[in-house]
Amino acid sequence: MARSSAGLALLARPGIEVVAGDLLAPDAPDRLQGLLAGAEVVVHAATAIPRNDAAPGAWDTTARLRTEGTQRLLAAASAAGARGYIQQSIVTAYPDGGDRWLDESTPIDPAPARASICVPVAAMEALVRAVDVAHLRWCILRGGFFLGPGTFQDLHVERLRAGRPIVGGDGRAFFSPVHVADMAADMVAAVERLPGGATFNVAATPLRWGAYVARLARLLGVPPPPRPWPGPPSPSCRCTSAAARTVLGWTPQRTIWPAGQGGGSPHWPLEERRT
Ligand SMILES: NC(=O)c1ccc[n+]([C@@H]2O[C@H](COP(=O)([O-])OP(=O)(O)OC[C@H]3O[C@@H](n4cnc5c(N)ncnc54)[C@H](OP(=O)(O)O)[C@@H]3O)[C@@H](O)[C@H]2O)c1
Repeated sequence: MARSSAGLALLARPGIEVVAGDLLAPDAPDRLQGLLAGAEVVVHAATAIPRNDAAPGAWDTTARLRTEGTQRLLAAASAAGARGYIQQSIVTAYPDGGDRWLDESTPIDPAPARASICVPVAAMEALVRAVDVAHLRWCILRGGFFLGPGTFQDLHVERLRAGRPIVGGDGRAFFSPVHVADMAADMVAAVERLPGGATFNVAATPLRWGAYVARLARLLGVPPPPRPWPGPPSPSCRCTSAAARTVLGWTPQRTIWPAGQGGGSPHWPLEERRT
């Protein structure tokens, strides 16, 4: 399901039936009943994060999708007699962990400064956890920072080519990326294995923002913006995805690095190396 023709076109692939609809529309609960009839597993991956995610109100619709949207999909999945429910979540809701490894037992960041992102994420996960696993086998996948074609990495490339920084700070903070196709592969593993009542981090090897910017700039053939970069650093997020590897049998298969050099468009070859 997606609202826009662009969103629907991205989903339209052989074997996929796409449905135009808005999860937050007043008639969505009624529509979902019919749409989900016969569904075995329901996946909630809807989000509406704008390109300028620092703008006022930028997270409002996404917050609603995480709360009302989750309530609606859980209710509809239950009513349809689905076996499973997968909730896409995010590792970036963890608090600043410095150089410490963060596993799934780490509580969501309670800092008021990050409430617009983290409060709805905590509420969303609590809604899912409140469901009896014997009734609906739920699983929460906390995805790393999506990289690859069509992700925020396009914006990173654009900014570095313009000589602008990507994030604030001195570059020492960690981030935990995942190639978006590896995230999708993990989603498939979760749908197939349905480990009820489980939460997983899903990220490739974490790295420091400084190392990421330096290597991406080198691949693009541009100088990295001088450090420190203006603005506060994002919370350091060094996640372990050991549980996803063990329980879901997931391993990242794709490199997070674009292959293009110099002025050419970067691309991510299909036969990608392991990260
Ligand atoms: N981007 C990241 O780095 C990242 C990292 C970790 C986890 N995640 C999570 O991964 C999931 C997908 O994120 P993404 O970045 O891949 O997002 P995306 O590319 O923007 O995809 C979101 C999808 O949701 C649809 N959608 C938005 N509002 C909707 C609504 N009201 N009703 C029905 N469909 C709606 C969008 O289509 P329309 O706009 O056409 O409706 C689009 O197909 C989200 O749960 C997100 O929190 C993202």
